[in-house]
Amino acid sequence: MGALDGRVAIITGAASGIGREYARLFSREGASVVAVDLHAPEALVAELVDAGGRALAVGGDVSSWDDAHRFVSATVDAFGDLHVVVNNAGGGPLALMSNMTEQQWDDQIRVNLKGNFCCTRAAVDYWLGRRDASHEVKASVINTTSGAGLFGNPESSAYGAAKAGAAAFTVIAALELRGSGIRVNAVAPAARTPTSGEGTDDVVARFMRAPDDPSEFDQWHPGNISPIVGYLATADCPITGEVFHARGGVVGHFEGWTIGGTLEIGRRWTIAEIAEQLPAVLAAAPSRDNAGGAAYASLRNALRTDRLGPDEAGPA
Ligand SMILES: NC(=O)c1ccc[n+]([C@@H]2O[C@H](COP(=O)([O-])OP(=O)(O)OC[C@H]3O[C@@H](n4cnc5c(N)ncnc54)[C@H](O)[C@@H]3O)[C@@H](O)[C@H]2O)c1
Repeated sequence: MGALDGRVAIITGAASGIGREYARLFSREGASVVAVDLHAPEALVAELVDAGGRALAVGGDVSSWDDAHRFVSATVDAFGDLHVVVNNAGGGPLALMSNMTEQQWDDQIRVNLKGNFCCTRAAVDYWLGRRDASHEVKASVINTTSGAGLFGNPESSAYGAAKAGAAAFTVIAALELRGSGIRVNAVAPAARTPTSGEGTDDVVARFMRAPDDPSEFDQWHPGNISPIVGYLATADCPITGEVFHARGGVVGHFEGWTIGGTLEIGRRWTIAEIAEQLPAVLAAAPSRDNAGGAAYASLRNALRTDRLGPDEAGPA
């Protein structure tokens, strides 16, 4: 008996990296998997079917409204229903903001932000259309965000803004869909894949290298992200509107932007008053240096130092 028996799931960006591992775990846990990527991931689907699973490969662009609706109709045609959408497709290339072209900006926002919206919207159309007294919707959307946006990495002004936007989209969509049976959550993964420079000599790729000793736990293996996403996809998971970080053996809960230290005066402030009093608020604020835990913070710090140099890198 698998945790996802009877569930039908669309997994985007399934041809590679983290998405391919999602597809493998979902299939092992009994889900019917619709593997979506720019080119239909036929090899992955053959692997899943050979192992006894039910799977379909579909090609298309997650940021296309028409393609997103086609993913849903192909899923329902093949498997008779849809329960889960994992909006995983996304990625670089990255560039410093001062070098970024308008086209690069638009491409990053389109794939990493609009892609979550198009595929969610197409599925929500289907689910809301199915709601009636005889049919209880137990649907789950899992979007993909990134520490690059939630914490801020260099070369990620567009990618990170899109990914932070995906987290905001998640919280708002979950709120709007409250009571509909459709849950929406997001995961910020960190793992060794082409997106994180796998196979190159880049600082992030070096950080995420597999251990030399194969008996050691491989904390940057992309398969480590799958269990939390699998749990969020289960029919009876109650969680909605939350954002999680996942890497290695770590599942962290993002507590998001919050208002910490506050100045309050009961009338309009003057610039001079703010200039005098704001430094104390910032000095009393908790350091962001260790946000996300020491291992993750040291990865971010290595990246910042590599890209910006030690003098300009600032806090992790
Ligand atoms: N690897 C990490 O450490 C990390 C960190 C934070 C976020 N992420 C995010 O996790 C997700 C998975 O990335 P990954 O690391 O496995 O990288 P990956 O490059 O191995 O996989 C991304 C997949 O998405 C597909 N894709 C890209 N644009 C698409 C589009 N418009 N339509 C359909 N498919 C498209 C690619 O073809 C590829 O197969 C991405 O959204 C990425 O931004 C990864």
